[in-house]
Amino acid sequence: MTDPRILEEARQAAQNAYVPYSHFPVAAILELRDGTLLSGCNVENASYGLCMCAERNVLFMSVACGVPREDITSLTVYAPTDTLTTPCGACRQVMTELLEPETPVIVTNGRLEKRYTVRELLPDAFEIE
Ligand code: THU
Repeated sequence: MTDPRILEEARQAAQNAYVPYSHFPVAAILELRDGTLLSGCNVENASYGLCMCAERNVLFMSVACGVPREDITSLTVYAPTDTLTTPCGACRQVMTELLEPETPVIVTNGRLEKRYTVRELLPDAFEIE
């Protein structure tokens, strides 16, 4: 099952989600090699196209914080839904660019869990050589 420390962090981060339109909170947690956890949540906007997923928020933050992708050991996506919430296509494309292909992506609702790699979530992804 999901590392309890990461799950607790995800539950906290999901409470920060700004979701007045969808009422669908999501948290995304990056675990670093030294055990540091970076947390993100989804942030919505009245101009719906500006809504930003939890996954992209935390991935962009890792860049802003200067975290080398080699130091990221996992990405956990948490949504308190009955069935598992898997990342959208846009987030998969960003994961492909900002994480290693074999980095684990753990999807959880706190009870159920499924593990993927970045490559499994977006095979044959578009990349500029
Ligand atoms: N959302 C995420 O943050 N991550 C996902 O993996 C799926 C969708 C957000 C976007 C929007 O704020 C809300 O969930 C409903 O789509």
